[in-house]
Amino acid sequence: MPRLFLLWGKLMREKGDVDKGDFIGRIEILRRERNAVILAHNYQPAEIQDLADFTGDSLGLARKAAEVDAEVIVFCGVHFMAETSAIINPDKITLLPEPGAGCPLADTVTPEGIATLKGLHPRAKVVTYVNSSAAVKAASDYCCTSGNAVEVVEAIDAPEIIFTPDGNLGRYVRRITGRELIIWEGRCPVHDRITAEMVRERKREFPSALVVAHPECREEVLELADAVASTSGMFRVVQESGAREVIVLTEVGMGYPLSRKFPEVRFIFPAAEPLCHDMKLITPEKVEKALRELQPRVTVPEDIRLGALLSVERMLAIG
Ligand code: 13P
Ligand code: SF4
Repeated sequence: MPRLFLLWGKLMREKGDVDKGDFIGRIEILRRERNAVILAHNYQPAEIQDLADFTGDSLGLARKAAEVDAEVIVFCGVHFMAETSAIINPDKITLLPEPGAGCPLADTVTPEGIATLKGLHPRAKVVTYVNSSAAVKAASDYCCTSGNAVEVVEAIDAPEIIFTPDGNLGRYVRRITGRELIIWEGRCPVHDRITAEMVRERKREFPSALVVAHPECREEVLELADAVASTSGMFRVVQESGAREVIVLTEVGMGYPLSRKFPEVRFIFPAAEPLCHDMKLITPEKVEKALRELQPRVTVPEDIRLGALLSVERMLAIG
């Protein structure tokens, strides 16, 4: 059956005659045939989140993949996320349906850059945000996420701590922990574009709204927020607050899973909506192709994988 089915699909595609419903149907069949699990980050397009088995943040998804009995992981997100999944799940095939989906923040730091900084601060421990390559994680002592960066830094007993690659997250952690961090000045262009004035404007329009911000936002923006949380942490904040209007300071795709979970709440984003183009590159067509061809795969050389896994495991041991 599959051969006939795939041949039919090929003919239809050549005719340019395949609509979205056909792709979704084929994804269902291929998902079972390949024993695959489809993971989608909270910022993915709605149609991708709808077809995913699990949605969530980068590390939560990679850990989810380790729990399920699947041979193939289709990671709908950006490259560092699929790589993190490959670090944790070396015996599974990890597919990234759009290999060009990257993260400009992750690209700001290299293992060589870390080595230079370590040379200047030989007694320092290096904490690296999960938005980084496997090679950078391997060159670091600890990994962290936006949800646990504070706990990770608090748990480290070292005379100096280097924090990479997000400068805004580093300054937030410095403020909360009171620890003197050596900060790598990388930025997420999507979050860094949100200004305090954009937030004030929304607050004027919705004076009773709760303000929730991702810690990749600038310091002066975080100061205007009622709560600072990772993408997954935002669900908890909204749940606990009981708010009916929430100003959300993160990538606009987050509006979809939030509205799905809290249909009675109004979610408001800055007027110039923060949009991560890399996160929108994956389509149902690309998911179907990846499952059919089992390509493009994301692999990590074993020595780098083991080094990166160590920094991820040190983080997990903290919490
Ligand atoms: P989370 O890990 O909080 O989902 O964030 C990832 C990210 O890329 C934020 O811009
Ligand atoms: Fe990277 Fe920013 Fe996009 Fe997140 S939103 S994937 S940090 S560029």
